[in-house]
Amino acid sequence: MAERTLGVGLLGGGVIGAGWAARFVLNGINVRVHDPDAEAERIVREVVENARSAYDRLTLAPLPPEGELAFVDSVEEAADGVDLIQESAPERLDLKRELLAAADRAAHPDALICSSTSGLRPSELQAQMARPGRFLVAHPFNPVYLLPLVELCGGARTAPESLERAHALYASVGMHPLVVRTEIDGFLADRLLEALWREALWLVRDEVATAAEVDDAIRYGAGLRWAFMGTFLTYRIAGGEAGMRHFLDQFGPALAWPWTKLTDVPELTDELVDAIAAQSDEQAGGWSVRELERLRDRVLVRLLQALRSEETGAGATLAAWERGLLATAPRPEPSGDGPLRLHARRVPADWIDYNGHVHESRYLQLFADANDALLGALGIDAAYLGAGGSYFTVETHLSHLRQLEAGDRVHVTTQVLGADAKRLHVFHVLLRDGEPEPLATAEQMLLHVDTASGRAAPARDAVRERAAALACRHASLPRPERAGRSIGSR
Ligand SMILES: NC(=O)c1ccc[n+]([C@@H]2O[C@H](COP(=O)([O-])OP(=O)(O)OC[C@H]3O[C@@H](n4cnc5c(N)ncnc54)[C@H](O)[C@@H]3O)[C@@H](O)[C@H]2O)c1
Repeated sequence: MAERTLGVGLLGGGVIGAGWAARFVLNGINVRVHDPDAEAERIVREVVENARSAYDRLTLAPLPPEGELAFVDSVEEAADGVDLIQESAPERLDLKRELLAAADRAAHPDALICSSTSGLRPSELQAQMARPGRFLVAHPFNPVYLLPLVELCGGARTAPESLERAHALYASVGMHPLVVRTEIDGFLADRLLEALWREALWLVRDEVATAAEVDDAIRYGAGLRWAFMGTFLTYRIAGGEAGMRHFLDQFGPALAWPWTKLTDVPELTDELVDAIAAQSDEQAGGWSVRELERLRDRVLVRLLQALRSEETGAGATLAAWERGLLATAPRPEPSGDGPLRLHARRVPADWIDYNGHVHESRYLQLFADANDALLGALGIDAAYLGAGGSYFTVETHLSHLRQLEAGDRVHVTTQVLGADAKRLHVFHVLLRDGEPEPLATAEQMLLHVDTASGRAAPARDAVRERAAALACRHASLPRPERAGRSIGSR
C-alpha cells in the first residue's frame, strides 16, 4: 500500500463524478478517477474546464493551487492512499456493492468511503464491506462544483465519527452537509423532487400542459423563492402577519381536495416518452448540453452571488467558504528588493464586452485585487477589519496601455511610493506573464479609516510599521515614469 497523500479517489466519472472532480481539484485536492468508459477522461476534463471558468466568476477569494487530476485503470489504484473514496457509478445495487467492497479492501483503514447514490439505502450498500463503519451516503446535486448541498446519511453499521469527519471534509470544500437523521429511501431532497416530478409527468401525460409550460409554472414563480426560502419559510410569509398558523388554517383543508395524484405514477409508455423527449428537444432550442451547462453555471454563479450579498441560504455557505480560503491562503510576504508581486490570475472569457475587448472596469478590478493582497500582506485580516480598521481607496489614476485578451495569465506588481499614519500611496503595474511591457498602470492613494465613524484614523501599530518599512525599502527603487501623472493632453 502506498504512503498516504491528501487526495480523493473517484469511482465513476460521469455527470456526478466529473462534478466531484471539479469540486475537489479546484479546492486544491489531488484526484484520481477510475471509469472504464474510454470517453470518461475527455468528459471529466471538459467539465473541470467549465467549472474553472465558473469559479473565476464566482469568487475573488484566493483559491489554492489546483490539485492534480489523474486517470487510473482500477478501483485499487483510485483507492490506494487517499483520504476519501467517492463512488458515483450507475445506480445499480449489485455494481455499487461490488465497487464499494473492492474500495474497502484497497483503501487505507482511516479513509472514508462515500456513495453519491440518489436513493439506495446505505445499509444495503455497506453489506459486503469488511469495514462498514467508515461508509456513508454523500448525495450531491448537479453541478456538484456549484451547488453546495450534500446530504449525508449513515447506514445501520456506520460509525457516528465517520459522519462527523465527512461533515468537516465536505464543508472544507465549500459545501453544505445536511445530515439525514433517519435512513429512508430517496433521503430528503429526492423525496421532495420526486413528488414534483411525478406531478409534472402527469400534467404532460394528461396533455394539460407541455414540458415547457410546466417549467414556466416553476421558473417564473415559486422557483425564484425556493432558492433562499425553501417551502416552510415561503408559506410562513404567505400566512401574512398571523404566520404559519393562519396559513395552515386557511389552506389546510385544500390538502384533502383531489388536486394532486399523490403517489400514483404515470406509466412511461413509448408514446409518453416520445412526447416528452420531443417537447424537451424543442425546449432546448438547438443548444448542446455543454452550452446549456454553461448557461446554467453563469446563472447559478449570479444567483449565488446575490444570495451571498444577503448571507442567506447557499450564499451563507459561499461566504463561509471564502472566509476559510482567505484565512488559509499563505500571507504574501512583502520581501525582496523589487516591487511586490502580489496578485496573479487568468483573464476569464466573460470579461470580454460587446466590442470583443476586455471591459475597462476589469483593469480596475485587477488593481483592486492587488490592493486587497497588499493589505493582507500588511496584516489586515478578518480580526483587524472586525475591530473597525480598514483602508479605503480615495484616488486612482489608471493608464490603459495595451489590450488584455481572454485567457491571458497576468500579474500585478506593486511599489509603495509613500506611507504615513493614515495614507498609503501605491503604484501598480499590470503585466502579461513573461512579457516586460506593461498592459496598464495605476497610481492610487488609500486612506486608513475607522469604519465605525467613517472618518480617517491612524492605522494600528503593526500595520503602520509594516507599511512604513515597505515605503522605506521601495524608496530606493526607481520612481515609476508614470507616477504623478494627470490626464495627458497634447
Ligand atoms: N445525475 C444526477 O443529477 C445525480 C445527482 C445526484 C446523485 N446522482 C447519483 O450519482 C451516481 C452517478 O450518476 P451519474 O448521473 O453521474 O451517472 P452517469 O451515467 O453520468 O455516470 C456513471 C459513470 O460510471 C461509470 N461506470 C460504469 N461502471 C463503472 C465501474 N465498474 N467502475 C467505475 N465507473 C463505472 C460509467 O462509465 C459512467 O461514466 C448515481 O448513483 C446517481 O444516482 C446522480
